[in-house]
Amino acid sequence: MFANRVLSGMRPTGALHLGHYHGVLKNWVRLQHEYECLYFVADWHALTTHYDTPDVIERHVWDMVIDWLASGIDPAQATLFIQSRVPEHAELHLLLSMVTPLGWLERIPTYKDQQEKLAEKDLATYGFLGYPLLQSADILIYRASMVPVGEDQVPHVEFTREIARRFNHVFGREEGFEQKAEAAIKKLGAKRARLYRQLRTKFMEKGDAEALAAARALVEEAQNLPMGDRERLFGYIEGGGKVLLSEPQALLTEASRMPGLDGQKMSKSYDNTISLREDADSVAKKIRTMPTDPARVKRSDPGDPAKCPVWQFHLVYSDDKRKEWVQQGCRSAGIGCLECKQPVIDAVLEEQKPMRERAERYVADPTLVRSIIADGCEKARKLAQETLREVKEAMGLIYS
Ligand code: TRP
Ligand code: SF4
Repeated sequence: MFANRVLSGMRPTGALHLGHYHGVLKNWVRLQHEYECLYFVADWHALTTHYDTPDVIERHVWDMVIDWLASGIDPAQATLFIQSRVPEHAELHLLLSMVTPLGWLERIPTYKDQQEKLAEKDLATYGFLGYPLLQSADILIYRASMVPVGEDQVPHVEFTREIARRFNHVFGREEGFEQKAEAAIKKLGAKRARLYRQLRTKFMEKGDAEALAAARALVEEAQNLPMGDRERLFGYIEGGGKVLLSEPQALLTEASRMPGLDGQKMSKSYDNTISLREDADSVAKKIRTMPTDPARVKRSDPGDPAKCPVWQFHLVYSDDKRKEWVQQGCRSAGIGCLECKQPVIDAVLEEQKPMRERAERYVADPTLVRSIIADGCEKARKLAQETLREVKEAMGLIYS
């Protein structure tokens, strides 16, 4: 609500693959042209589950940043940084923890799910329980309005909204709030003040969502008001106290249609991936040895694309004409499987070509990547410090 700011993070889990590209990165690239975007490496989040392998984390971090750049994330458009280099996230996490009910954390579906899925790890830890709250701090510290995430992360964004509301409720109350809000309205000027009051009444009496949005936009435009007054006016529309932390929206990323080499979802844990910058020979070999419809034992046996993982790749990479060629040729045994796979190999290599090219200079000169991240961290820190200062003030922690 303060600005159309987009924030998202990714845990550094090693080289990214085409599933990440089609599922997440393409979307990030698109958003960077439309909004102010902040993208970060969630290295602390990686530690919550992989605290026992500190030796690989650094390599994973830099590999991932290169993969982002290779995908077309442009450091001139988006701010790229590393979570642990902005320690303000941790401070906000701690402060938020004071008003976070344990039950809220225990109820989040990923908590029990992941503990069961990763049964070989001891995840009965304080850090793992706090995973979603750390994520809330990541989001709230930038007052991000949109958080592009996959479906599994939506409960975390929902939780973040609840935390923001709770925080505002507990700490947004101030002595004489009503009078201060009324005084702030007057500073809007007569015309806007009248409009603000009308919209506020409309929202308070009828719950009119458009009135709420219009009133917020009006306050948003009043750039010359002091920050404190703007927060009061945002909060006053809805009756409550100041809006110290704004509620983000999840921007649901459509599930990637990118299948793995075996037809399951592409995932490192299934060992069925093609990594973003995998070399051409390896890509060709992996696709050539992909399983096909088991009914096609001999070249002359007809097959059914619906039973073949290669067809899933055609759905991602081929136009209608080629899809028709596959359907026809497979069902009539008119084409062989290797023949069918060749255009897929070509399409994947074609897609990867600009990625390999973009990555080249970063691989050759790692200091370029270091400096992009150093710049991003500095920018992010400035924003984070602003919010943290206001949070501490509201919590009575600014001592003079
Ligand atoms: N939990 C997210 C994931 O596993 C990563 C993440 C950490 C994140 N902090 C975030 C995503 C803040 C969005 C916003 O994918
Ligand atoms: Fe799969 Fe193509 Fe072979 Fe049919 S022809 S089984 S779609 S690889």
